[in-house]
Amino acid sequence: MAALSEKDAAAYLDARPRYPIDWYKKIAERTQDHKFAWDVGTGNGQAAIGLVEHYENVVATDINEAQLKRAIKHSRISYHHTPKNMSEDEMVALIGGENSMDLIVAAQAVHFFDLTTFYNVAKRVLRKDGGLIAIWVYNDIIISPEIDPIMKSLVDSTLPFRTPIMNLAFDSYKTLPFPFESIGMGSEGEPVRLDIPHKLSLKGFIGFLKSWQPAMKAKEQGVELVDEDLITKFEEAWGDENQVKDVYYKAHMIVGKIPEMRSESDKVSEDSNKDNLLQTDVGRKQERRQPSDDENRQSKKQNTSEDEAC
Ligand SMILES: C[S@@+](CC[C@H](N)C(=O)[O-])C[C@H]1O[C@@H](n2cnc3c(N)ncnc32)[C@H](O)[C@@H]1O
Repeated sequence: MAALSEKDAAAYLDARPRYPIDWYKKIAERTQDHKFAWDVGTGNGQAAIGLVEHYENVVATDINEAQLKRAIKHSRISYHHTPKNMSEDEMVALIGGENSMDLIVAAQAVHFFDLTTFYNVAKRVLRKDGGLIAIWVYNDIIISPEIDPIMKSLVDSTLPFRTPIMNLAFDSYKTLPFPFESIGMGSEGEPVRLDIPHKLSLKGFIGFLKSWQPAMKAKEQGVELVDEDLITKFEEAWGDENQVKDVYYKAHMIVGKIPEMRSESDKVSEDSNKDNLLQTDVGRKQERRQPSDDENRQSKKQNTSEDEAC
């Protein structure tokens, strides 16, 4: 996150939602064991704190040391800095070793990662028997019929300034590769839609807008999207400035497990089924689009920008 004043940073935190506690419960019910969880891209540790209710030990990592210094402390959460140049082997060892994690969570974070590295590490540390990986993103806020259309125009105006990272998030993870097997809670290309309820003050909302990454990107290019006129419009649409509103964020989640090893005969039969499917519309829809070499290169280049990271 680009540097914010203490006041703006507090307002920004006020606007950021807490993930519903039943999310952790529902996911934890589906993992076989509850010894170790890894919260990757932990930020201030809010998901780690949710996970520690269900797992004996939580390892929480982040590329940004400054974020970790502000993270919420807990005796069963160990926070670790994972710098950009850390090797996959070092990362696997730091997190807990091969086949060790019952659950991996990346909350509002995976779109920042070098996906090849992350998925390589995830596949190594995730338990083959009963381990799960869950990723989620929120990308839209529903406040009131007066405010939502103004927000929509603002969101639309960010289009020319969005980075590929932002596009993955704006796209609700529908175009994000997710090479894990579905357990019925979303799948690659088809995340599940969830709501995150939140109480929001006008001050928190304005603070959020001022530090909102798409608007910051526009500002870097000399375009002020969140100007005083727009803020006045939002203030008028809000009504009583002291009113704290019940709002919700639209979130999107995918949970998966390590794909099961298939025998050669399974593969042959699956391939012939796939050929049959390809001859139908359903089959065409189910064919996964693989990223081109160019896209892979771009995705590597775009990732892990600490400035952009929160
Ligand atoms: C939007 S914040 C989300 C923080 C937290 N998970 C939450 O939900 O509140 C994204 C976090 O991902 C971290 N991050 C970005 N790239 C990373 C990487 N390659 N490895 C680990 N963490 C990364 C950022 O530093 C930041 O703390």
